[in-house]
Amino acid sequence: MEHPRIEVRNLKKSFREKVILDGINLKVCAGKSLVIIGASGSGKSVLTRCIVGLLKPDNGDILLDGQLLNPDLMNNRAFIASSIGYLFQNAALFDSLTVLENVSFGPLFMQKRNIKEANQIAKEIMLKLDINPKFWFLHPKELSGSSRKIVAVARALAVKPKVIIFDEPSTGLDVRASQKLDSLIRDCVEKENITSITITHDMNSARRIADDIAMLHEGKFIWSGKSNQMNKSNNINVERFIQPFLDTNFNTIRGSQ
Ligand SMILES: Nc1ncnc2c1ncn2[C@@H]1O[C@H](COP(=O)(O)OP(=O)(O)OP(=O)(O)O)[C@@H](O)[C@H]1O
Ligand SMILES: [Mg+2]
Repeated sequence: MEHPRIEVRNLKKSFREKVILDGINLKVCAGKSLVIIGASGSGKSVLTRCIVGLLKPDNGDILLDGQLLNPDLMNNRAFIASSIGYLFQNAALFDSLTVLENVSFGPLFMQKRNIKEANQIAKEIMLKLDINPKFWFLHPKELSGSSRKIVAVARALAVKPKVIIFDEPSTGLDVRASQKLDSLIRDCVEKENITSITITHDMNSARRIADDIAMLHEGKFIWSGKSNQMNKSNNINVERFIQPFLDTNFNTIRGSQ
């Protein structure tokens, strides 16, 4: 296998007595997209929060381009935020800042660019993502849910991270907006060579976004592989998870041909 861009080794996390993650291993190469699926409460967000240093694992290592992210690096917010972009489950923009200020925030405060450069970077990213300049000086509250998500993607991309993590990007979006966001994620991976990890409940989205899929269940990955192999998993929990999607357009979308 090619040298992984991001690697997680034997990651464990419990809250009090409750084991949430029980030895997670994953590797994702540059320009590849991993989708993590699993039931609500299975620990998907906890895993990604550990990867970006918002939660401290009890055990295990995280490596970026082969470099161990030791506690010093993990506590270096500017370093982590510039290396690993994170799209929170609720899109979490700064309400009091304009769209432009939100997107230029990373370059300005994490990467210490000057305001002119930061704005330039933000504008380039927003144009790339088709965020109309008429939105740039609005506040997040004035945008639709899907526009807010796309601004959040722009904000995550503005620091040009090596890895970007999307936690449930399409929650709350209609089908069309969700498909648009899925293709945006694919573009980040294919055109910008970014490594992505996406969490989703939606198998249709998962198939559009993924090179590989991994399913989290009771603290472990119980299955991983190519999305078009999923219906041959021979695993009851995987089958239960994908069953609701089998009746719809599961076999007609990307990855299953
Ligand atoms: N800070 C915390 N303190 C205590 N327990 C927590 C904390 N964060 C998460 N948990 C617990 O860890 C478990 C996994 O939560 P997590 O948010 O990772 O689930 P999830 O798979 O992302 O679910 P969803 O699909 O609903 O977003 C849950 O039981 C949750 O209550
Ligand atoms: Mg979650």
